[in-house]
Amino acid sequence: MTSEVYRVVQWATGGIGKASIRHLVENPFMELVGVLVTNPEKVGKDVGQIAGIADVGLSATDDKDAIVALEADCVHFAPLVPDIDMVCRLLRSGKNVISPLGPFYPTEDCREDVEKIDAAAREGGVSFHGSGIHPGYSGDILPVTLARLTGRIDHVRVYEIADFLAHPSPWMERLGFGQDPGELAANPRRSPDAIGHFVQSMAMIAEGLGKKIDGLTAETKFAVATKDIKHANGVIPAGTVAGQRYEWTASVDGRPLITFSQIWTVGHDDIEPDWDCGNGRYRVIVEGEPSLELTLDGNATGRNWTAFAGLTAIPAVCAAEPGFVTHFDLGVVRPRGLVR
Ligand SMILES: NC(=O)c1ccc[n+]([C@@H]2O[C@H](COP(=O)([O-])OP(=O)(O)OC[C@H]3O[C@@H](n4cnc5c(N)ncnc54)[C@H](OP(=O)(O)O)[C@@H]3O)[C@@H](O)[C@H]2O)c1
Repeated sequence: MTSEVYRVVQWATGGIGKASIRHLVENPFMELVGVLVTNPEKVGKDVGQIAGIADVGLSATDDKDAIVALEADCVHFAPLVPDIDMVCRLLRSGKNVISPLGPFYPTEDCREDVEKIDAAAREGGVSFHGSGIHPGYSGDILPVTLARLTGRIDHVRVYEIADFLAHPSPWMERLGFGQDPGELAANPRRSPDAIGHFVQSMAMIAEGLGKKIDGLTAETKFAVATKDIKHANGVIPAGTVAGQRYEWTASVDGRPLITFSQIWTVGHDDIEPDWDCGNGRYRVIVEGEPSLELTLDGNATGRNWTAFAGLTAIPAVCAAEPGFVTHFDLGVVRPRGLVR
C-alpha cells in the first residue's frame, strides 16, 4: 500500500469498464470503491467476476444515488451514451470525473456541455477531464507533443486504421463491406458531417500551435476487392467495397493544416486502390521542416488504451484546479503505480 491512494468508482462495465476494473484492482495507488452497472444481470455480482478476474469482494450496483453518496476521489465514467446531467451530479457531489465520452476540448459544438460541467465542477471543488485513445490522445496530445521536434509545420495527418481481416467484426455487412461502391457512396456509413468529437481534437492541435480553425471539409473514398476476400464471417465478393476512407481536413489561415483519416480495410493485399496506410493502428505524420512520423501499435485493444489514458490521469485530475480541464491544464501527466 502507498500513502497516496485514490478511491475510484468505475461507472459502467463495457469493454472499457472491464479493462478499468482490472487495472484499478492491480494498481497499489488505486482503490476500487464502487462499480455502477445498468445491466440487471450484473447487479449484485462480484465486480472481479464481471471483469474476468478473481473475486475482489465488491458487488456491482445499479443504485446511482448510492454511488453519488459514496466517498470517492474520482469516477471513471464510461457508459455507452453520454449523460451530462449525471456527470454534473457526480461533480457537485465532490468527485472528480474522467470520461472517454468527452467533451474533450471546449469548442462551439460542445460549449453548452462544457459550461455546465465547468460550473458543476467548480461547485464541487473538483475537475472533469475527457480522455481516451481517439479522441483524447492520438489526435490530441501526440501531435502537439511531436510538434516540439520540428521547426515548421505544413500539415498534420492523423490516421486511425482498422483492419477487419485481422480483427473481424460480426457486422461486416452492416459496416458497408461487400456493397456496391456507388450504393455505399450514396449512403456512407459515416456521414461527411459525422466528425463529432474529433473536431475538438483538431481544435486542440490548432490552438496548441497558436492558431484557430477557419474551415472544415470532408471526403469519402472507397476501395474494392480485386478478388473474393474470405474473412472470418464470410466473403467480400470481387468488385465490391473492401475499403472505406473517411477524411476530414481543417484549415487554418485559409489553407489545409490538419487531416484526420479513418481507414477501414479488409486486409491490404487484395484491394484497389491500396492506400498504403501501414500496419500500425494510429499514425501521426507531421509534414514540415523537418517532417516526422509516429506509429502507435501494440497488443492492447483500443478499449484498453482508452481505459489507461483515463486512469493514468487520475492523480493529475485530482490535483488540478477545479473546473473543466484539458491536456493543456494537466501538463505532463505523471502516472502512479505502473512500475510495480
Ligand atoms: N475516447 C475514446 O478514445 C473512446 C474509445 C472507445 C470508446 N469510447 C466511448 O466510451 C464509451 C464506452 O465504450 P465501451 O467500448 O466500453 O462500450 P460497450 O462495451 O458497448 O459498453 C458500454 C456499457 O455501457 C452500459 N450501457 C449499455 N447501454 C446503455 C445505455 N442505454 N445507457 C447507459 N449505459 C448503457 C453498459 O454497462 P453495464 O454492462 O455495466 O450495464 C455497457 O456495458 C462509449 O460511449 C464509446 O463511444 C471512447
